[in-house]
Amino acid sequence: MKQIIGLDIGTNSVKAMILADGAIVDQVSVGYAPDYLGNGFVEQDPAVWWDATKAAIRAITSANPGQVVALAASGQMHSSVFLDAEGNVIRNAILWNDTRTTKQAAEITALAGGEAALLSMVHNRSLEGFTLPKILWLRENEAENFAKVCKVVMPKDYINYMLTGRIATDASDAAGTILLDVGKRQWSNALLEKIGLPADILPEVLESVDAVGKVTPTLAAELGLAPETLVIAGGADNSCAAIGNGVVASGQTIISIGTSGTVVTMLDAVPADITGDVHLFNYSYPGKFYAMGCMLCAGESLNWLRNIVTVADFDELNALAEQSTPGAGGVVFLPYLFGERCPYPNPDAKGIFFGLAATTSKADMVRAVMEGVAYNIRAMYDLVSPFTPITDIYITGGGAKSDIWGRIIASVLQRPVTVLNIEEGPAFGAAMIAGVGAKVFDGFEVAKAQFLRTDRMIEPDGHEAYQRQFRLFKKIYEANKGLF
Ligand code: XUL
Repeated sequence: MKQIIGLDIGTNSVKAMILADGAIVDQVSVGYAPDYLGNGFVEQDPAVWWDATKAAIRAITSANPGQVVALAASGQMHSSVFLDAEGNVIRNAILWNDTRTTKQAAEITALAGGEAALLSMVHNRSLEGFTLPKILWLRENEAENFAKVCKVVMPKDYINYMLTGRIATDASDAAGTILLDVGKRQWSNALLEKIGLPADILPEVLESVDAVGKVTPTLAAELGLAPETLVIAGGADNSCAAIGNGVVASGQTIISIGTSGTVVTMLDAVPADITGDVHLFNYSYPGKFYAMGCMLCAGESLNWLRNIVTVADFDELNALAEQSTPGAGGVVFLPYLFGERCPYPNPDAKGIFFGLAATTSKADMVRAVMEGVAYNIRAMYDLVSPFTPITDIYITGGGAKSDIWGRIIASVLQRPVTVLNIEEGPAFGAAMIAGVGAKVFDGFEVAKAQFLRTDRMIEPDGHEAYQRQFRLFKKIYEANKGLF
C-alpha cells in the first residue's frame, strides 16, 4: 500500500495526514502556542515546529504501518526563519500575525518609489504581516543578529531543510515575502537593490510539486519512514488549502469561513491591472497564480456573538437566524472586530451594529452577523472576480457547516455555491501536492477526481433585500471610516 503524508505547519499545531488508495487513512495533530509578547510582537521558536513535526510523523507512521513514498508540508505564510552560515536558527521566527513592522512596511513602499512602483515589481502592497518588513525590522533593531543572517526561509521550508539538509522555498511561499516578481517567478532584483538587501539571503525557488530531496537515513529510521522517502517542496497554507478544496482550474474559487475568511481564485496569468486590493501570489499548481482576499474576523464574529448572548451552540444560532428574515429586520453588521485587511486595509476599523430598533430581536442580530460576514465576502469577491470569469465556487469552514449561512452567502453572491464531500484544510492539499510531485497521481485533476465530489449545491434564494443591504453595508463603512 503506497502512502503519502501531508503536513501543515500551523500557528497552533502541526497536523499530519496520511493518504492511501484514494482515501484519507488517518490524521494526527500536535499542538503548541505562539509566544504573544505584547505590543503586537508574536514569535515562535522553529524548534517547536520541528519537535511537533517529528512527533506527528512518528505517531502517524507507527499507527499506520506501510510504505510512505512521499511527504509535503504546507505552512503558515510570511513567518520569517533567520538562518546563519551553518544553517542554525539565529533568533525566534517573527510570525505572520506580528504587527511590529508598520514603520518598515511604509519604508518599503517609499524605497520602492511608491505603491505603483512596488506593485509593478512584486505585484503586492507592503503589509505588516509579510516577510520583507520583518527582515528590515531585524536590520534596524537587531544589527548583530542581522549581520549573521545567511538565509531567510518560511516555516515549511525550515521543516524541509531539517528533513533533507537542503535550503529552498517554493513559489507560493516566496510570493508572500513580497520580494518575488510574481509574474516572472524569480526574486525581484529591482526591489532588492532599492532596499539594499543582498540577493543571496533568499533561497532557491522551486515549484510546490518539485522534490527538495530525500529524508536523511538516520531521520527516516527515527520517524518510521523509508530511507528513500521523497520530500516534495509543498506550499503556503492558503495555496495548499485551495488545492485541497478542489481549486485546480482558472476561475475556480474557494470561500473559507474559519476564524478569518478568505476568497481564493485560481488565475492562469497575472492580471493586467493590479491594484493591490487583494493579494496576488503564485499558486501550488505550477505556472498558475491565485488572487486572495483575506478578512480577519469571519467565523469569529459569530463566535463572539455566541459568547456575549450566551447561546449554547451553533445549532441554536442557526435556528435563531432562521427565525429572522433576509435583511435581518433592517440590522446591518460590520464584522471589523479585529480591524480589517480586505476589502478595507484598515487596522483601526471597528465592528458596528447599524439599524437597531425597538422591534429588533436576538434572531435579527444573529442573522445580521451572518449577513455582515457574507457582505464582506461579497466585497472581496467583487475585487477578485474581475480578474477571470468565476466558474465554480466551493465553500468550506463554518459557513459550509451551517445550512442557513451557506444559503445567505450564495444569495448575497447571487451564485450557487458547492459543498464538497471532504472538508479538509492545508494538510490535505499538501498530501495532494506530495502525490502529484511523486507521480502517485497524474496531476491535480486526477487527484481531485479521486478524492473530491459534490456533497450538495446551495442555490441563491434571489431575495432583493440582500442586495439592498449590501449597498448599505458599504455606505456604512464609508460614512464611519473617519470616526474609527
Ligand atoms: C495569509 C496569512 C495567513 C497565514 C496563516 O496572507 O497571513 O492566512 O498564512 O497561516
